[in-house]
Amino acid sequence: MTKTVNLKGASSEITLEVRSGTEGPDAIDITSLYGDMGVFTYDPGFVSTASCHSKITYIDGDEGILRYRGYPIEQLAEHSDFLEVAYLLLYGELPSAEQYSGFNHVITHHTMINESLLHFFDGFHYDAHPMAMMVGVTGSLSAFYHDSIDIQNERHREISAHRMIAKMPTIAAACFKHNLGEPVNYPRNDLSYVGNFLRMMFATPCEDYQLSPAAEKAMNLLFILHADHEQNASTSTVRLAGSSGANPFACIAAGIASLWGPAHGGANEAVLDMLEEIEDVSNIDKFIARAKDKDDPFRLMGFGHRVYKNYDPRAKIIRAVCHEVLEEVDTHDPFFEIALRLEEIALEDEYFVERKLYPNVDFYSGIIYRALGIPRNMFTVMFAIARTTGWVAHWMEMISDPKQRIGRPRQIYVGEPKRDYVSITQR
Ligand code: ACO
Repeated sequence: MTKTVNLKGASSEITLEVRSGTEGPDAIDITSLYGDMGVFTYDPGFVSTASCHSKITYIDGDEGILRYRGYPIEQLAEHSDFLEVAYLLLYGELPSAEQYSGFNHVITHHTMINESLLHFFDGFHYDAHPMAMMVGVTGSLSAFYHDSIDIQNERHREISAHRMIAKMPTIAAACFKHNLGEPVNYPRNDLSYVGNFLRMMFATPCEDYQLSPAAEKAMNLLFILHADHEQNASTSTVRLAGSSGANPFACIAAGIASLWGPAHGGANEAVLDMLEEIEDVSNIDKFIARAKDKDDPFRLMGFGHRVYKNYDPRAKIIRAVCHEVLEEVDTHDPFFEIALRLEEIALEDEYFVERKLYPNVDFYSGIIYRALGIPRNMFTVMFAIARTTGWVAHWMEMISDPKQRIGRPRQIYVGEPKRDYVSITQR
């Protein structure tokens, strides 16, 4: 039986249908509200608004559950690899051995970027933030590939998706090399997705990179954990940009721009800045007090989440892997000690307990990146490489939805009412 709710206005009453998913809270369908009653709904930050139907990722923030296409993140983290997860996000099912090998081949053979794209880097100063370069260079991919630009054509969409996933590590490594003033490394087809990326980052013309299995495993895991997270700010940005029929590469550039903010993907960089500022475990109490002080803009970076009101399941996995990675690369990192103690103190503090503020995915990820030799300003770029698969999967899902319309929120106008123009001499 269809569930409904009745909404009573001053002079009318309407019945609204309630939509149910396979899991998660129901949603009241308000599409007819304005037409029937002449009112909008108001929900800044979309706290109570579902913007679409999606089959890709499920989160239960109260229980700390994250699943891609139904598969628990813990199982994927333990058994899968990043390209298999990318296939799962794009196509909805885990690949057979043959499908996996075909997908691996296609992605591997799309990793090169057009040589003229490399010249774009010359326009950036040597110390440009890599996320600034990522936004610009990824957006400029929209000036290439005119062979597959018809977004209504399913095969064209698929080719764009493959190109995007394949080229992102190549562009990211080129950003890093530009900062260093070193020549870029071309991709190598005999390496894995992650192995190829690490080599493009760290090899030089004088010395090849000795790929460490521990580094490859850790990076692979971080990429899996960051691959998708349903309708977060950057994914919603990609969907909104794409809803007008815009070029997919330009839409992904918009997603990268949104991800860069410190309230979103930029938090991993901000966490390390914060741990550096804390400097020593003896200073933690001072920073906790600052985070609780409403007159101080300081927040505990890597803490809190719009959806998780429980431990972020990704943070739990990364925290455990931090121990392993630091042991394997034989590094003692004082930042890890500070982070562990900070978490311990915060989780016993009434302020954080009351507000259900727990470590999020970014609290520990930077410590692993640091152990792998990735500099701080590249942390959010790592996130962008992984999240590209999620962005692309959502973009494909949206475009192929027959009910898809341009995204166009409304507003409550609070500006001046009508007034007449006054000439400049009389103002
Ligand atoms: N430190 C201190 N207080 C916090 C923190 C924090 N990290 N996060 C939230 N709070 C407090 C707020 O001040 C607010 O308190 P109040 O009710 O007394 O006013 C309450 O907790 C609720 O916080 P909101 O900002 O309203 O929650 P919202 O859902 O809008 O924001 C966000 C979530 C942006 C993640 C927030 O927790 C935050 O800024 N965290 C730090 C940045 C961060 O780690 N971002 C990464 C998010 S995960 C990701 O994108 C990968």
